Amino acid sequence: MLPTIAIFATLLYLLVFWVVLPICRYFQDPKGLRKFQNYSTFSGITDIPYCYLSACGFRSRDLTEAHKDKAILRIGPNNLSFGDIAAVRDIYGHGTTCVKDLKYSITGGPHPNLFDVVNKADHSAKRKRLSAAFAIKNLVQWEYKVVRTTERLLAAFDKLCTQPLPSNSVPEPSDLTVNFNHWINLFTIEAINYIALSSTLGLLEQGGDVVTAQRLDGTTYQAHYRTAQNQNAFAASHFVWDYTNFELFSSFSKIFPKWRKVWKDAEPWKDVIYHQAVTRMNRYTDGEELDDFFSALMDDKAGQPHNLEWGEIVGEIGAIIDAGADTTAIALTQIVYLLIRHPDHLETLRQEIQGVLAEDEVIAPYDTVRHLPFLRACIDEAMRIIPPTSAGLPRRTPPEGAMILGKWIPGDTSVSMTIYGAHHDPTVFPNPEEFQPHRWMDPEERKRMEPYFIPFSTGGRGCIGRNISYLEQTIMLASLVHRYEFSLPGPEWNLTRHEAFNLLMGEMPIKIWRREIPAKK
Ligand code: HEM
Ligand SMILES: *[C@@H]1O[C@H](CO)[C@@H](O)[C@H](O)[C@H]1NC(C)=O
Ligand SMILES: *[C@@H]1O[C@H](CO)[C@@H](O)[C@H](O)[C@H]1NC(C)=O
Ligand SMILES: *[C@@H]1O[C@H](CO)[C@@H](O)[C@H](O)[C@H]1NC(C)=O
Ligand SMILES: *[C@@H]1O[C@H](CO)[C@@H](O)[C@H](O)[C@H]1NC(C)=O
Repeated sequence: MLPTIAIFATLLYLLVFWVVLPICRYFQDPKGLRKFQNYSTFSGITDIPYCYLSACGFRSRDLTEAHKDKAILRIGPNNLSFGDIAAVRDIYGHGTTCVKDLKYSITGGPHPNLFDVVNKADHSAKRKRLSAAFAIKNLVQWEYKVVRTTERLLAAFDKLCTQPLPSNSVPEPSDLTVNFNHWINLFTIEAINYIALSSTLGLLEQGGDVVTAQRLDGTTYQAHYRTAQNQNAFAASHFVWDYTNFELFSSFSKIFPKWRKVWKDAEPWKDVIYHQAVTRMNRYTDGEELDDFFSALMDDKAGQPHNLEWGEIVGEIGAIIDAGADTTAIALTQIVYLLIRHPDHLETLRQEIQGVLAEDEVIAPYDTVRHLPFLRACIDEAMRIIPPTSAGLPRRTPPEGAMILGKWIPGDTSVSMTIYGAHHDPTVFPNPEEFQPHRWMDPEERKRMEPYFIPFSTGGRGCIGRNISYLEQTIMLASLVHRYEFSLPGPEWNLTRHEAFNLLMGEMPIKIWRREIPAKK
């Protein structure tokens, strides 16, 4: 009897709150959003079409497609998506009056961190504190951290090398010894933990992502670092697009075994962060002097303590190690994939690197390779064509409304423009679907395109880790291309992707072998 009543009550609730009221609100149209074109027939009434779009796996590309000839689309009852490049400045630029949307508070932890804090003044204070640590001077000081981590990855790759591939053949399945995406994720996890917390996790020696996680009560257990991080993002990215019902949808999804497993795999993520934070804090209280972000979080340059609350410290550590790993891994997987697919560009790149590195040099020094124009062109073109964060980052108009694309958008409306859409605008990037690193080689052209090249977003909430990512990508890519040859499983093989918040990549099995590096004349 009880279950029947429960089911009946639930159905009634759903009918009233999800059907009747939204339809009334749609026709009442208090904000006048009905004049904008719908993304789908029901977008004016419910967020479900957008949740569905998100579940399809590549919402940024699909939405860009939907924007053809439509500058503004209503993607939810209170949400507008923009498809015109000029909107980037209005929504994200330095002068914008928009703030991060409620989504960030929902997916954030109990203490707002640099990434998810909404309030502008709070953000400025946090940003100022960490900017000192992210300044370019420190970056070069931390090059050795990236170098050592690169050495560890190459030591693992050396062991996985196979015999050279005869020309015009495809690798034996048993020779596909490297899942590149897996290994490069282990690399970026190690690199960011070393840079931020002076911590090494042994992942590159282990070949896997098992680490210690720690509950608030102090007990510890073993957990999968990358799986937990990815599944956490994967799960939230499906259900968060209806903010008010996020908790409800999430709980409801646990009825299904598939989602129960996803949420369970995601659970350890907060405990992984917590263990990293506690371990580093113990070293700090023991008086160990270490050179990392954590130090910048604790004391200012003059050595005066910032006296942050413990919860905030844990939050900031979470922000950095969460935002700082998979994005760079996605970029590196993508660029290696594209270069294998375009042997002519790979050859051009090798020639350029060979011109500056000695034949027996293993790790490319940053100072030697950072200004190589074709290397930078390849990295940028890969992030243009497939931005690691492709999505429209949700912002909220201020209560008094805002002008976007010359139109007045009412207050407290969720607005966004996909990074993917900006990067595939043919008026800025001719033949946007083609991988053409040479488009970046002409300085005049670069100057013209750069305002619309926004893989790290732009404005006051743009990425603080941009330079660190270039440091990692540049050293890693130059070193890999100099030392190895690679082959994909075959000409028909494709990389799979699933867009959570970032564009997660599937496996990339490759065969690798050592190159014969011609001696310099
Ligand atoms: C290719 C690599 C990377 C890409 C594509 C990328 C992309 C982005 C994007 C698009 C944003 C804006 C997010 C939003 O508005 O919701 C962002 C913010 C942020 N990123 Fe990155 N990122 C990368 C690497 C890194 C690294 C290496 C770090 C850490 C060292 C990092 C730390 C952060 C932080 C802390 C923020 C928040 C900044 C703020 O709100 O003030 N990112 N990133
Ligand atoms: C939006 O959807 C409604 C149905 O809910 C439809 O009547 C209307 O024509 C659509 N508007 C546009 C601009 O497509
Ligand atoms: C649209 O905004 C509303 C509230 O402003 C939010 O609840 C909803 O999750 C958003 N949906 C999308 C698709 O961004
Ligand atoms: C990155 O380095 C450049 C100088 O090369 C500097 O102008 C810029 O502010 C730095 N960006 C960040 C986010 O630290
Ligand atoms: C890979 O993608 C290409 C182009 O989209 C397609 O022609 C090919 O069939 C795909 N290969 C596989 C194995 O799915």
